[in-house]
Amino acid sequence: MKNCSLLILFLFVGQTAFNQGVADLAITPPMGWNSWNKFGCNVDEKMIMEMADAMVTSGMRDAGYEYIVIDDCWQVGRDSLGNIIPDPERFPSGMKALGDYIHSHGLKLGIYSCAGSKTCQGRPGSRGYQFQDARSYAAWGVDYLKYDWCYNEGQSAEAAYKTMSDALKAVGRPIVFSICEWGEHKPWEWGKGIGHLWRTTADIRDCFQCQFDWGGLGVLDIIDRQAELYPFAGPGHWNDPDMLEVGNGGMTNTEYISHFSMWAMLAAPLMAGNDLRNLDQPTLEILTNHDVIDVNQDELGKQARRFMKMGDYEIWAKPLSNGEVAVCFLNRSLQAWSLDYDWQRYTMYFVRDVNLHKNNYKIWDCWAHKYIGTTDEQLSAEIPPHGVLMVRLKKK
Ligand code: GLA
Repeated sequence: MKNCSLLILFLFVGQTAFNQGVADLAITPPMGWNSWNKFGCNVDEKMIMEMADAMVTSGMRDAGYEYIVIDDCWQVGRDSLGNIIPDPERFPSGMKALGDYIHSHGLKLGIYSCAGSKTCQGRPGSRGYQFQDARSYAAWGVDYLKYDWCYNEGQSAEAAYKTMSDALKAVGRPIVFSICEWGEHKPWEWGKGIGHLWRTTADIRDCFQCQFDWGGLGVLDIIDRQAELYPFAGPGHWNDPDMLEVGNGGMTNTEYISHFSMWAMLAAPLMAGNDLRNLDQPTLEILTNHDVIDVNQDELGKQARRFMKMGDYEIWAKPLSNGEVAVCFLNRSLQAWSLDYDWQRYTMYFVRDVNLHKNNYKIWDCWAHKYIGTTDEQLSAEIPPHGVLMVRLKKK
């Protein structure tokens, strides 16, 4: 009897500790790479391994990128017992071997499935197989699951994502859970505790301003849809405005700088979506800008708020730990913005602990990597069309 109580106590303590471990995941926004934006269905183990190599040799791993996520099309069917089968031609060594390879690089493995009967590309989905699939993922060493919403057949989104969340928690391996139902059922209202991040919109397109009939959006339209969602972001539960397009060629360098800056301000997951094997210098400089990444990864975990909107000129502010604050001046227009900014007049009233009058911050330019003034003087700058000025107010 005594032994039995002890066993129950051990199991209870073990499960509590494990649940705590799951809760500790994604304490800052996840960073990594995902195959979809650049490669679509064209995924195989050779390319994924090369991407892991490039993540290390490029310096991206050291900049904070961690997850290598294989998106749709890795799966081809189920065996007679219902186990999900990876494409044997494209992944001949199997997912466990690929996971080992990725882990040996100090990186983590991410995979993709869908709450519906099929994935968006018509591959087998996880509906009805959630616990079985979660066990397969754990056996392969999966650390991150992106879970989509095609062929959902009228399920309740909250219930469907909760089922997979429970399945992942039951396998005894910490797995970040990325909810991808495109914001259709306001996942920011129920996703905390079920997943660690949730998509807020339809898919991103590689353009600064564009919209497609099927819902695809460019950078500016996605940003607009994040503006009111700031109360829902925090350590372990993030709004996800979709993966990065930086380096994919559809935008100018200036636009990619704005895209990356704003994703950092929004405390968004930073999932690169380009070919890491062919990184040109400007792309690498954007993706590894440590001043910008530090703002994204700040431990306070606040999402920026739109503090001012004057037509196409916007000012966003993100409170940081230690009473510092990041400010991003976003120029949405096709004309340069001659900025003349009076810090003392426009106090960021909603940023707690930021007292511009008392503190007299030094202004650090996150792209020029130098101080450009203090908050007791006027800030003058020329912000290019579609560009940003992103600064960090540092205490003296
Ligand atoms: C959906 C998702 C995308 C991608 C594709 C894969 O469109 O939103 O991010 O995963 O499916 O088919």
